[in-house]
Amino acid sequence: MEHRTLTRLAAPALAVLVALSSGCTGATVQGRPGASGLRDPYFPRAGNGGYQADHYALDLEYDPAGGELHGTAVITARAEQGLSSFNLDLSGLKVEGVEVQGAGARFNRTGNELTVRPAKDLRKGEVFRTRVDYSGRPKALVDPDGSKEGWITAGGGDAVAVGEPVGSMGWFPGNHHPSDKAAYDITVTVPRGYEAVSNGELRSRRDVGGDRTAFAWRSAEPMASYLATVAVGKFEVTTGKTPSGVSVYQAVASSEKEAARGALARVPEMVEWGSTVFGPYPFGTAGSIVMPAGTLGYALETQTKPVYSGAPDEELVLHELAHQWFGDSVSPKSWKDMWLNEGFATYAEWLWAESHGGVSAQRRFEAFLAGDTSVDAQAGNDWAAFPPASPPGAGHISDDPVYYRGAMVLHRIRQEVGDAKFFDLLRGWAGDHRYGNASTADFTAYAERRTGVDLKRVWDVWLYGEGRPKAP
Ligand code: TRP
Ligand code: ZN
Repeated sequence: MEHRTLTRLAAPALAVLVALSSGCTGATVQGRPGASGLRDPYFPRAGNGGYQADHYALDLEYDPAGGELHGTAVITARAEQGLSSFNLDLSGLKVEGVEVQGAGARFNRTGNELTVRPAKDLRKGEVFRTRVDYSGRPKALVDPDGSKEGWITAGGGDAVAVGEPVGSMGWFPGNHHPSDKAAYDITVTVPRGYEAVSNGELRSRRDVGGDRTAFAWRSAEPMASYLATVAVGKFEVTTGKTPSGVSVYQAVASSEKEAARGALARVPEMVEWGSTVFGPYPFGTAGSIVMPAGTLGYALETQTKPVYSGAPDEELVLHELAHQWFGDSVSPKSWKDMWLNEGFATYAEWLWAESHGGVSAQRRFEAFLAGDTSVDAQAGNDWAAFPPASPPGAGHISDDPVYYRGAMVLHRIRQEVGDAKFFDLLRGWAGDHRYGNASTADFTAYAERRTGVDLKRVWDVWLYGEGRPKAP
């Protein structure tokens, strides 16, 4: 305690000393280094302190034959403290140069940290631009749970970038933690004949230099960097609009075309359904990217255009679409809050089935309690292995309890408060946290406030409790 107090007093005193000794006068205190991580409970080095990014302009040129990427990232950010240096997260690749506010900046790299030292310190509150020129062969990263993310190549020059939880540092430098959301302009130049697809709206598609095509994509709404994607391939592209005017862009690997048709055809209807159940669809565009089977081994809710590895079925498309409200628009504050993504997206599947001639959520909940796989093939999984609000380590944030027991938490709330309050809660949660971040504690407080019901037993037993909960 005493030691802590001393350190806190010592830091400002030191800063003054440093300022004086370097010839600064009066009130000007020099910047200090931004933190190299945001101390996420599962990924402590992810993200960086001292600034918040507002916008990323990524200009990428990709050669599918050689797997070479040339990139320029221009990051507009706001300093939250005086900064003598700050970090970006970047894994692999070669950094050719860094500029801050148009002036050459010094930089060095250790592990996945790119430390940038601007020519001039940045003032607290200053909005500044950082330009990073980089190149190389981006690679796949292996997650603590053994899955692949980052830049994934498939046969025939196909490639796709996915970033949950920390893969985005494998293809662009940034503040790679979900708590720092930003708008994006992503332009991808590929050889003629290839399509390049990314999040949001296609602003332009133009031929450059005789043999290449540049695709300019814009995500105007805030996006967490793990939800950014780029897919390069020889896709079949179909476009359309939902009845309420959301534009739909679906890119499908030719090998998956027939198998994907049925489920993808339902996207417009699902957007409309979600808009009535969860509140207005949060983005201007919707759609899908279907990669050849075997590319990834999982799907990801990349913003506006989920990525699928092989043709998805209707349930999976509904799951990834539900993430657009839960995960993408309302994003987790830390990787510990994953059940706010997965529990909600799973429960959305239960709700979709219930309202489209399938089993009720109540019946499904009972099947999970009983391990009855005749109702849901997943009911026999180990959903009770740990409480969904605290996965036992970074390798478990996508395990079954996060999905299925997470969904059961929502069903327990519904049982306690009744349908009217429950659906009002879902809409309220999505609406009041739109484009933001939220934690488990934010949710439990919000749920009790919004419904006026004391839900402590539900949290204690279902969200935080060890062991297998019994039928309520
Ligand atoms: N979040 C994805 C979904 O539920 C699944 C996912 C992404 C995943 N990355 C993963 C699952 C890594 C296991 C391992 O749609
Ligand atoms: Zn999911």
